Amino acid sequence: MSAAEVYSPGLEGVIAGETAISTVTGGLRYRGYPVPELAENATYDEVAYLLLHGELPTSKLLASFRDRLARARELPSCLVTLFKALPSSTSPMDVLRSAVSVLAHFDPEVADNSHEANLHKAERLQAQIPVAVAAFYRLSHGQQPVAPRPDLSQAASLLYLIRGVEADPLQVKAFDVSMTLYAEHEFNASTFAARVVVSTESDLHSGVVAAVGALKGRLHGGANEKVMDILRQAGGPETAEKWLRDAFARKERIMGFGHRVYKTGDVRAGVLREYARQLAEVTGQMKWESTAAIIEKILEQEKNLLPNLDWPAGRLYHAMGLEVPLYTPIFVAARVAGWSAHIIEQLDHNRLIRPRARYTGPEVRTVKPIEERG
Ligand SMILES: CC(C)(COP(=O)(O)OP(=O)(O)OC[C@H]1O[C@@H](n2cnc3c(N)ncnc32)[C@H](O)[C@@H]1OP(=O)(O)O)[C@@H](O)C(=O)NCCC(=O)NCCS
Repeated sequence: MSAAEVYSPGLEGVIAGETAISTVTGGLRYRGYPVPELAENATYDEVAYLLLHGELPTSKLLASFRDRLARARELPSCLVTLFKALPSSTSPMDVLRSAVSVLAHFDPEVADNSHEANLHKAERLQAQIPVAVAAFYRLSHGQQPVAPRPDLSQAASLLYLIRGVEADPLQVKAFDVSMTLYAEHEFNASTFAARVVVSTESDLHSGVVAAVGALKGRLHGGANEKVMDILRQAGGPETAEKWLRDAFARKERIMGFGHRVYKTGDVRAGVLREYARQLAEVTGQMKWESTAAIIEKILEQEKNLLPNLDWPAGRLYHAMGLEVPLYTPIFVAARVAGWSAHIIEQLDHNRLIRPRARYTGPEVRTVKPIEERG
């Protein structure tokens, strides 16, 4: 079959490789475990271990994993100097992309692509990324970064590093669940970008830099930052329907809805919705939940569009008092586990990813010397 015959715009429906890490077929599962069960019965730290190492950890293995992460929660001082030098208006996703690139220069195994070295690097990045997200956030708000605490889980630690105070257990649980749901998602655009990069036998950090760049876009991770814009524009439950119908007329995309693969709903959105609602109740922000419910109902009835994970995530983070520019970096702090697992899998069974394109340019023509081109 020729390349032209199998062309599918946006690679929709194309099987572009094999993976044992997760599947979306028959409900999202990480290494065989249904994700709602992981969200309920395991923590993000256990899920990150599962993605990287292939099995859920025993208590002993989890303790040593958490200990390794705690010890790696530090940044080279020049990275903090760089953060201070950047304009405070720099987008946190751009900062994070640069941060991963700088971290590569200080990683002792940066150029070692062995399975073991890649696991070490993945764990270090897992530990360092939340520290970098929070350090830049605090510096850009005129606050000093806080020293990491070794006793906290990845989720509790990120909240602590951002705020400088420990979060209450309900917030930690909701945030931890959101990180589990964001941790991995098969051949999504950022993961595929990472796999393409390392398929050239480049390194793990380069793959993650590419993935951060891909995640930033509003059709991918950037969507969670647009959710509160949508809700604020909708104004509240009384004005939501009119706003939405006007948005339809303007042919606007409603961020947080629709999905390339899930056409009958994203199970992750259902799981996180309960936590978004719970936190909104506790913090007295039910207005946005009621507005969201109206938008959901009309989009389903009239456009057959269902919410994806970003829809409740944006609301949950808002209810927790987190600022919008942190939302996609939080996604990175969670997804780095999935990206790293895919990078390691790609390098363990590597074949260069190099597809073909359908040519749409001019027919063959003759080069005229410049004097004859007028
Ligand atoms: C995720 C997304 C890019 C997947 O879309 P896709 O498979 O490439 O489908 P398309 O972009 O081709 O959309 C198909 C149709 O549905 C419409 N559509 C899809 N998502 C829509 C949305 N969120 N709001 C309004 N219309 C939407 C498109 O306008 C298009 O309509 P048309 O055929 O009349 O032109 C798309 O649903 C989207 O842009 N969603 C909003 C961003 C978002 O939430 N991203 C996070 C994904 S987890």
